[in-house]
Amino acid sequence: MNIDILLGLQWGDEGKGKIVDALSPGYDVIARFQGGPNAGHSIEFNNIKHVLHLIPSGIFHPGKLNIIGNGVVLDPAVFKKEVEELRLPVSEITKRLIISKKAHLILPGHRMLDAAYEVSKGNLKIGSTLKGIGPAYTDKAGRNGLRVGDILRKDFQDLYQEHLKNHLLILRNYNFKYNLSDYESGWFEGIEMLKKFSLVNSEYLLNDLLSEKKRILAEGAQGTMLDVDFGSYPFVTSSNTISAGTCTGLGISPKQTGEIFGIFKAYCTRVGSGPFPTELNDETGEKLRKTGCEFGATTGRPRRCGWLDLPALKYAIMINGVTKLFMTKADVLTGFNSVKVCIAYNINGKETFEIPFDHDAPLQPVYLDFPGWNENISALRNYSELPGTLKKFIGFIEEQTGIPITMVSVGPDRKETILR
Ligand code: GDP
Ligand code: IMO
Ligand code: MG
Repeated sequence: MNIDILLGLQWGDEGKGKIVDALSPGYDVIARFQGGPNAGHSIEFNNIKHVLHLIPSGIFHPGKLNIIGNGVVLDPAVFKKEVEELRLPVSEITKRLIISKKAHLILPGHRMLDAAYEVSKGNLKIGSTLKGIGPAYTDKAGRNGLRVGDILRKDFQDLYQEHLKNHLLILRNYNFKYNLSDYESGWFEGIEMLKKFSLVNSEYLLNDLLSEKKRILAEGAQGTMLDVDFGSYPFVTSSNTISAGTCTGLGISPKQTGEIFGIFKAYCTRVGSGPFPTELNDETGEKLRKTGCEFGATTGRPRRCGWLDLPALKYAIMINGVTKLFMTKADVLTGFNSVKVCIAYNINGKETFEIPFDHDAPLQPVYLDFPGWNENISALRNYSELPGTLKKFIGFIEEQTGIPITMVSVGPDRKETILR
């Protein structure tokens, strides 16, 4: 059996949580492989909206196993809060969720450093979620991290104090005022919560499950354009958000990857700083934000909005090896007279599909206009019932990318999904 992968193809918030939840009945295991509580994955059913940050989006399905893999960075305080807000008994959650001992811990010092670095960058700030992601991955790569498995060591408190001392030493170079107890609040209680869970070398478990022919879905966080290697560096996150990240983040061989589901919104959004070629700083952008409820699931920040960017989508498909496309938020485009798609970039009078290395390149999006539609499509469940103009829009994206769009999402609820 191979592991299927679901990833965001844009700048995050494509609707990964909703779709992973909707696909979960067809899988035995759902595993997160990178990122941390910078993620906010929303799931809606029975008129309740849940937002997950660390826990995989299969958690609401009884009998499914969820795994937080080694590639994730885990903040115990966020984890504890998330477990408590899940509206499920902890005894049930401990049955459904297993955590890799090799996942790195986000320490209070990482959050302080994240904040200090952002302040020091001034206008060039990344727009981080301030969850400590960058500093935690920095310590991982620098071989200075603490991992989930370390919490079981007798000398864990000493190790923690040593790490804290080092972080405070670095912080001395920054004019950053902090109250340590604010940052430590809930963190040690979170460590106690973690101890209630099975902490394992999850790479063995996952490979055993594959041998047993269990169906596994890897759930990406963030999006391809936020990948540390292929996103708009330095305005990116600190992990590999792309399909290749599944292998390192779970301990799976590339030979064992199956379908690669690429998920994209029918338009684009970005939260935080960095280039966004199709951004609309006008009434249309405002309408997309309002209709699409485009406010961050983790930070509440308004998301920047713009038209669909095909060169960026094609790039993401190439880097990930996408086999099937899922389009979300098609319903948000209802009521626009015309819907635009960026088909190329014009840079100094030359048309190109290549995303320039230089963020300051004078880039103008080249748009193609599509007639809009006014029908409310959220109650539709058959592809054939969709307005002809929307089907033309979908057909154009398939023709341009060469990849079939096999799922269209028409609302935030689990049920508001059209399979083709
Ligand atoms: P994720 O980070 O990729 O899981 O996405 P988020 O949960 O951060 O943001 C997606 C938002 O859009 C959430 O509020 C979802 O409930 C909502 N959503 C997902 N799919 C659809 C859809 O097809 N239509 C509408 N209107 N909302 C959707
Ligand atoms: P999901 O999984 C959207 C953005 C931040 C910032 C940059 C770096 O919900 O799609 P970080 O906190 O990682 O240091 O921030 O990345 N970012 C996201 N944007 N969705 C996310 O996750 C994001 N996670 C990080 O806004 O620009
Ligand atoms: Mg999100």
